[in-house]
Amino acid sequence: MNTEVAIIGAGPAGLLLSQLLNRAGVSTVVLERQTRAHVLARIRAGILEWSTVELLRAAGVDVRMEREGIPHEGCVLASGDTQLRIDFRALTGRQVMVYGQTEVTSDLYEAQDAMGTEVLHGVSDIEITDLDAARSVLHFTHEGARRRLSCLFVAGCDGFHGVSRRTIPADRRREFERVYPFGWLGVLSETPPVHHELIYSNAPRGFALASQRSETRSRYYVQVPLTDKAEDWSDEAFWDELRRRLPGEVAARLVTGPSIEKSIAPLRSFVSEPMRWGNLFLAGDAAHIVPPTGAKGLNLAASDVHYLHRALIDAVRGDRAGIDSYSERALRRVWKAMRFSWATTTMMHRFEGEDSFAEAMRRATLDHLGASETAQKDFAENYTGLPF
Ligand code: APR
Ligand code: PHB
Repeated sequence: MNTEVAIIGAGPAGLLLSQLLNRAGVSTVVLERQTRAHVLARIRAGILEWSTVELLRAAGVDVRMEREGIPHEGCVLASGDTQLRIDFRALTGRQVMVYGQTEVTSDLYEAQDAMGTEVLHGVSDIEITDLDAARSVLHFTHEGARRRLSCLFVAGCDGFHGVSRRTIPADRRREFERVYPFGWLGVLSETPPVHHELIYSNAPRGFALASQRSETRSRYYVQVPLTDKAEDWSDEAFWDELRRRLPGEVAARLVTGPSIEKSIAPLRSFVSEPMRWGNLFLAGDAAHIVPPTGAKGLNLAASDVHYLHRALIDAVRGDRAGIDSYSERALRRVWKAMRFSWATTTMMHRFEGEDSFAEAMRRATLDHLGASETAQKDFAENYTGLPF
């Protein structure tokens, strides 16, 4: 098999990159470990920065998003019964779009089907060789046979547990990590959202988030110890805890119902540098992980793809400047999103065993946000997405 760009991973990063390259006439083959159904069953975040919306438009996968997506011009930061609305539109002139990552991935799959792109599922034992030659080779097993894919470039879009990052020699990688001592227990329910915008709540009992997928489908989270198991939480226990962590007038209007999905996600900040090794380029979770507080995971995958698709289109046409600067340019924006995600996680969560000074710093940070339009503008600028 031959192609111009081999892509490992059919998540948002891999499929969006493939779609943008194909629209520019660059051939791709996507190799995915799981089945399509498995990929589409994943429940992930639901906030798109406007630059991600514009990239999806450029990829030609915006029709359903425009029809079903919900533009949001602000969000609420709650602390006890105090609620502070951050007005994105007034502070930055920008907004975000509420549209689930699952829907983005489904739209990308449909677009790739229409493009006739080869997306191979059930691929295993990928080995990447010849990264410093004119053409690289992916060796892999598919449908019981060992196969070979020759390509000009390899895009490692295979997430945190993928093979791409580990193909870069360990002594040539610089890794940065912060593992948080708690997780987020998330519930999806066919219930109307408790508020028309998201509410991030910093309560004495811990963090909670009231989010949504549509006018009839809600997504809620509560901070839990890492020792908790989703199956230990009944729906009733979840709703009771969520009510305790939302401002009183909000909790009073919470509509509850049976959970249609319930899971616990650990929180981690992670960056691996560089994002390039010869003909291999990392994008998305393969290179970095953010805690979900700042809603940056999907948007950072889109950010990398924004830089990488242009660099690869130029490189296939003979201009290598973009691929030579890709890692540095992508990482500059990654680190700023990493900082914002870490800061909001620290501001909004209680850490087991923290001292009174940490609690006082959290209160002062929230007080300053409430009193300073400059601080609110900084939050809004980061939350809606820094410029590419
Ligand atoms: N070979 C082939 N495919 C692989 C391999 C492998 N060795 N390892 C992982 N994959 C696949 C996974 O099955 C998954 O479908 O790569 C894909 C990676 O997709 P994501 O993990 O969704 O990562 P990314 O596309 O970068 O999107 C980042 O997804 O996980 C969320 O919170 C994250 O919102 C962020 C977004
Ligand atoms: C979600 O809707 O799943 C969501 C929204 C905002 C976040 C994290 C998750 O910051």
